[in-house]
Amino acid sequence: MADVFPHLDYKPTMPRKLDRGIGLIGAGGIVNYAHLPAYRRAGFKVAAVTDRNLEAAEKTARDHGINKVHANVDDLLKDPQIEIVDIAVYPAAQAEIVEKAAAAGKHMLCQKPFADEFSKAVRNVELASQAKVKIAVNQQMRWDAGIRCARLLIDQGWLGAPFYATIQVHCKTDWSMWPWIYAGKHLEVMFHSIHYIDSLRYLLGDPNSVFTSGSRAPGETTTAETKTLTVWEYASGLQVLIDVCHSTWTDDPYAIFRLEGTEGVIKGTIGLMYNYPTGRPDTLEFMSKRNPGYWFSARLDTMWIPDAFVGPMASLMCAIEQNSEPETSGRDNLKTLQIVFAEYKSMAEKRAVRPEEITA
Ligand SMILES: NC(=O)c1ccc[n+]([C@@H]2O[C@H](COP(=O)([O-])OP(=O)(O)OC[C@H]3O[C@@H](n4cnc5c(N)ncnc54)[C@H](O)[C@@H]3O)[C@@H](O)[C@H]2O)c1
Repeated sequence: MADVFPHLDYKPTMPRKLDRGIGLIGAGGIVNYAHLPAYRRAGFKVAAVTDRNLEAAEKTARDHGINKVHANVDDLLKDPQIEIVDIAVYPAAQAEIVEKAAAAGKHMLCQKPFADEFSKAVRNVELASQAKVKIAVNQQMRWDAGIRCARLLIDQGWLGAPFYATIQVHCKTDWSMWPWIYAGKHLEVMFHSIHYIDSLRYLLGDPNSVFTSGSRAPGETTTAETKTLTVWEYASGLQVLIDVCHSTWTDDPYAIFRLEGTEGVIKGTIGLMYNYPTGRPDTLEFMSKRNPGYWFSARLDTMWIPDAFVGPMASLMCAIEQNSEPETSGRDNLKTLQIVFAEYKSMAEKRAVRPEEITA
């Protein structure tokens, strides 16, 4: 059977112990509509929450049945019931919190982007290593059903040697959900395509070089990039195209991925991007040389939001249990960030950039 049907067990590996105390730092949008619904489904225990806006923390506690609100980050870090700190603040504020959490001996799940400067990310990884605490980064697209199934198909040999891959997303993004992002100098790659970068690394490994063109649609008031065209090159000849535009005004948005290899083709849709943050399930189809002429399609019944948000926390808990590295560890994320910053260097210098050019 194994060579006729693939095995697509795409749900996250769960830890044996589910009730490690989680302390939330930041009680904004993503925590309320993604982290907390996911943790409820998974049976994780959120012991406390804090936010520099205490009203936001109190409302989150009421809405999600969290027993304790701490007045500030320092108080939360002193709480012996907290074993894992789940940080979801702005990227510029994350490094200082990571430093304090490492000093307090707490494991951490950090939001993406892990840092707004590469050197801060490197320093935080070193601090955590010295403190013997684990850092995972919330690059949860790796657990989105379509992407995880694609990885399972690749691991089982259905794709063969990949020679072309693409993610193309043309949608209408409501930046009023994140006014602080729209006001910044980095936008599309730093806050959105970072998911595609991390997922493509997960599927295909690290590229030799990246070239990115960044721009804006007519009428955009931000000075940052809201649409990007990116090409990655690999030593093997594999080419990757990432094509993202957040300003589609038409009624036919699309969010697709496609991988072509010597043994098969995998293609699908990224359901979340058709109607963020509600979304719809991903789709996945593949065709194999072992069954020529047939397109298989998988029924995927989970959603990026909230289901994929179980993955990074579950992976962190498994790593604590087994004293291993979380799948999206801080150290692994340095490579994702190198590509993020290489893409910005490429936009600025109008040339292909190797990720190793980005150093601390
Ligand atoms: N993984 C994903 O798919 C995803 C999606 C959306 C946002 N995010 C990330 O999550 C983070 C939060 O985004 P959001 O949309 O929830 O933003 P938001 O503005 O809705 O919420 C951020 C919250 O953090 C609080 N905060 C900021 N600095 C703080 C500090 N130093 N100490 C305590 N609290 C602080 C703010 O008061 C606010 O309540 C960002 O880094 C963003 O990039 C990730």
